[in-house]
Amino acid sequence: MVNKTYISDLKDHVEKQVSLSGWLYRGRSSGKVLFLIIRDGTGHCQCIIEKGNVPDELFEQLKHLGQESSLSVTGTVRAEERSVGGYELAVTGAEIICPAVDYPITPKSHGVDFLLKHRHLHLRSQRQWCIGKVRHTVIDAIRRFFNDNGFTLIDTPIFTTIAGEGEQTLFEVDYFGDPLHLAQTGQLYLESAAMSFGKVYCFGPTFRAEKSKTRRHLTEFWMVEPEVAYINLDGLLELAENFVSFIAEQVLKNNRSELETLGSDIEAIEKLKPPFYRLSYTEAVDILTSDRTTNFMAEQLSGFENDKAQTETKLAELQKQQAAGGKKWKMDKLAKEILELRAELSELEVKIENNPKHAQLAADFKWGKDLGGSDETIISLMHDKPVFVTHYPKEAKAFYMKTDRANEKVVENFDMLAPAGFGEIIGGSVREDDFDTLMAKINEEGYEPESYRWYLDLRKYGSVPHGGFGLGVERTVAWLTGEKHIRQCIAFPRMMDKIYI
Ligand code: 4AD
Ligand code: MG
Repeated sequence: MVNKTYISDLKDHVEKQVSLSGWLYRGRSSGKVLFLIIRDGTGHCQCIIEKGNVPDELFEQLKHLGQESSLSVTGTVRAEERSVGGYELAVTGAEIICPAVDYPITPKSHGVDFLLKHRHLHLRSQRQWCIGKVRHTVIDAIRRFFNDNGFTLIDTPIFTTIAGEGEQTLFEVDYFGDPLHLAQTGQLYLESAAMSFGKVYCFGPTFRAEKSKTRRHLTEFWMVEPEVAYINLDGLLELAENFVSFIAEQVLKNNRSELETLGSDIEAIEKLKPPFYRLSYTEAVDILTSDRTTNFMAEQLSGFENDKAQTETKLAELQKQQAAGGKKWKMDKLAKEILELRAELSELEVKIENNPKHAQLAADFKWGKDLGGSDETIISLMHDKPVFVTHYPKEAKAFYMKTDRANEKVVENFDMLAPAGFGEIIGGSVREDDFDTLMAKINEEGYEPESYRWYLDLRKYGSVPHGGFGLGVERTVAWLTGEKHIRQCIAFPRMMDKIYI
C-alpha cells in the first residue's frame, strides 16, 4: 500500500514510497529522463521519470503533457538539496488525470488586464499562491489576537439603515421597494454591542462606492473592527500597535519562505515592535510645510532620476541581447525581463512626474483639510515603523468622533500609517458619548435624526467613554508582502472601474 501524501510532508517519508497528486507546473526532458515539477497546493516537487520505469506509451504522454495538466505520481522520496523544496521523487508509476492543452497563462509575462481576466487560473501562480497564504495567516492572527484578549465576536449586518462613513460612498440596494445600504462599517452596531460585552469585534466584507481608482481602493474589502467600552485614545493606540505587531510576528513565523519569494522587506517586518511613532495632525502639517519635506522630496526626485537612468541602461542591454536572438527559453526569459523593466520604467516616470506636484501640495497644505494620499505617503516614507497621526480637525472627520474637550477644533481620532510610503491601514477614534453634542453633529451633517435614534439611545442609557478602530485586510497584506496594488491581495477583487470575473 503506497502512502498518499502532500509535498509539504515529504520530509517525513525520505526513502519511502509515496504518491502525490497535483498539477504539472513545468516539465523538461533530456532524452531518456523526464523532469516534471509538480505542485499540489502545499509546495513544488521535482519528479524524475526514467525511461523504462514506466510503460513506454505513458512515458511519451508524460513527455508531451501540457502545463497545468492534473496527474498522480508514485515513487521513492529522496532528499536533494539542489531540488526545489529540498526533496525529489524517483517515479515508478504515474497516472494522467486530465491533460491540459494550451494553458493560457504561460511562463512568459502577461499584462495586468490579461491576468485579471484569467484570475480563475492565475490564482494557481506562485505569486498569487504566496499572497493567499500570507492573507490566510493575517486573518488567522486577527481572530486569534482578539479571541485571546477577551474580545467577543459580533456579526454586524450587511444591510444597513444608517451611514457610518459619509453618504457619498454608500451602495444603495432595493430592499423590497425600500432603499437600504450595504455596510460601510460595522462600527455603529458594534458600539451597541460593546455596551453589553465590553470588548467586541466584527470582521467581514465592507462596501464603499468609492470613486477612486487608486492602488489602495477596492469597492469590496475586508475590515476587522474592535470596539471597547471604557477606553481612551492612548489605550486605543496601544491596542492597535500590539495588534499589528502580533500580525507581523505571525506572518514572519508562518510565511517566511512566501515573503522571500515575494521579495518582501523581511527586515522591516522584524522591526514592527511597539512603540510605533506618534504625531499629532498639527505636527504632521508642520512637517509637510517645512524645509524638511522640501528637501526630502528633492532627494526622492534625484533618486528616481538615477533609478530611471540605470533602468534605461539595463533595458538597452537586454534589448541588444534580444536582437541577437538565441534559444527559445532564453528569448522567453528575456521577453519577460524586458516587460518587467518597461513596467518599472513607466512607474518611475509616473513618480518623477508626480513628485513636484506632491511637493507643492505638501508645501501649500492648509490646516483643516484631511491629509491626502500623497501627504500620507510623504509622512510614511519618513518613518521606518508605522506612525499614528492623531487629533485631526473636526470638519475633516466622521460625525461620531469625539470632540477633544481640551481643544474643540480637533477630534480624538487616529490613523495608522504603514511605513515605506504605504500609507493608512487603520482608522479609529474615541466616540462622542455626549447626547447633545452628538445630536448637534447629526443635525449639522443633515442626517435624519430618526434613523439615528437607536444610536443616540446609547448616549442616553449609561453612556461611557468608548472607542475602536478598523483595519483593512487587503491593505495590510499588500503592505506586508510588498505588493503594490491591493487588488492582488484578495482572490476576486472588485474595483470601481471594473469587475473582471
Ligand atoms: O478609516 P476607515 O474609513 O474607518 C472606519 O470605517 C471606521 N468605522 C473604523 C472604526 O473606527 N471602527 O476605514 C478603516 C480601514 C482603512 O484604514 C483601510 O485600511 C480600510 O479600512 N479601507 C479600505 N480598504 C480598501 N479599499 C477601500 N475603499 C477602503 N476604505 C477603507
Ligand atoms: Mg480612514
